Amino acid sequence: MLEEAERLNYIIGKAKETATLFGYKEVITPVVEPLELLAAKAGEEIRQRMFIFEDMGGRRVALRPEFTASIARLATTVLRNEPKPLRTLSVGSVYRYDEPQKGRYREFWQADFEVIGSSKPEADAEVILLANNLLKSVGLKGYALKLGHVGVLRNLLTQEGVDEKTQNAVLQRMDKKEYDVAFALVASEKCQTVLRGLLELKGNNAFETIQNLCCYVKPYPKALEAAEYLASVVKLVVESGCPIESVDPAFARGLEYYTGVIFEMYVPELGLALGGGGRYDKLIELFGGEPTPATGMAAGLDRIVIATEAQETKLQKQASKRTALVPIKEELRGEALKIAQMLRDAGVPVEFEVMGRKMAKALEDADKRKMDYVIIVGERELREGKVVVKDLAKRTQVEVEILGLAEKIRG
Ligand code: HAM
Repeated sequence: MLEEAERLNYIIGKAKETATLFGYKEVITPVVEPLELLAAKAGEEIRQRMFIFEDMGGRRVALRPEFTASIARLATTVLRNEPKPLRTLSVGSVYRYDEPQKGRYREFWQADFEVIGSSKPEADAEVILLANNLLKSVGLKGYALKLGHVGVLRNLLTQEGVDEKTQNAVLQRMDKKEYDVAFALVASEKCQTVLRGLLELKGNNAFETIQNLCCYVKPYPKALEAAEYLASVVKLVVESGCPIESVDPAFARGLEYYTGVIFEMYVPELGLALGGGGRYDKLIELFGGEPTPATGMAAGLDRIVIATEAQETKLQKQASKRTALVPIKEELRGEALKIAQMLRDAGVPVEFEVMGRKMAKALEDADKRKMDYVIIVGERELREGKVVVKDLAKRTQVEVEILGLAEKIRG
């Protein structure tokens, strides 16, 4: 538990550092939101998995299953007048009634990054590079990036006369790789064959796959446009030095708001996506805002924890010394607390003896916890403006002036 929380916090720290490096500003959104906000364009899959209840005012509300809807709503309200692009980071727990299993929880953590106001491939590339940066910064190895474009699928289906509701159902099934069920939902056999053909195109050479895709969808001008857009994003990402494992023309994601390039990052040995995202150019409009293009991604922090544990990734922390502070007798507790506070004011972490143990027991405990120092507050030393500092690793002890104590512990 403790080790997991430490890892999670470490990864949250890396997400915040990454956000700073790319110029994303943190936004804090509510955990409980109106149901209609969260349900709009979330997709059947997530809609069915929301924790929904009625609040005491009789409103239908839900625990957020993700951040994107909340941020899109903010873009139409309090953040409406912010200069574009607007770049946001949100970190927190999200809730989905998923079937619990390894890496799939009902409460989990996301770091969500959104860039609002750009319709350019640079923005899609930026979000992908940011995801890559985050996974690199936590020390993961061998992670892979998969790209697709929902516009290819949707435009192809539209041209074949498939209505939006059916399209949503088809994409949901394709997201789950239930291709036979997905394709059976479209009436036209020709359309089924075209969709099946997309499956064959998936490949590990991104440029070759896109070239094949562009040839394949030539009879569908809008799908071709989408494929060409995907090509420009792939080019930017690869040129910037980030490898793409695969381009998958039949790749779909569960959320319904996507309109453009979509992607996921994963480590093959885990078989779970560590993060994913894509372009959603119609969502802000749906919430009553001006038509505003947007793209973004969310990293699944619990899964990144699992992946770093599996790869035994060391946390690159700045080692801070652990120090216990123990008064020799009860009457000295007040003075000892004052010294502890003085150290904390100087940025030195201190764990005060709150168990009221005798010195020998307190020292034994400090040893067990692998503390670096124990500060002993005794009557005589205190009168001289000093304390005793025991170095547990070196097994030495010295008297130190209280005024120079912070320096001594910092080393
Ligand atoms: P999502 O793919 O639904 O996208 O979730 C993002 C990540 O959250 C997943 O890749 C996965 O790592 C993690 N995740 C999802 N479900 C679970 C679960 N039950 N337990 C643990 N981790 C999970 C979104 O949420 C979009 N809002 C991303 C986005 C932002 N698109 C555009 N902007």
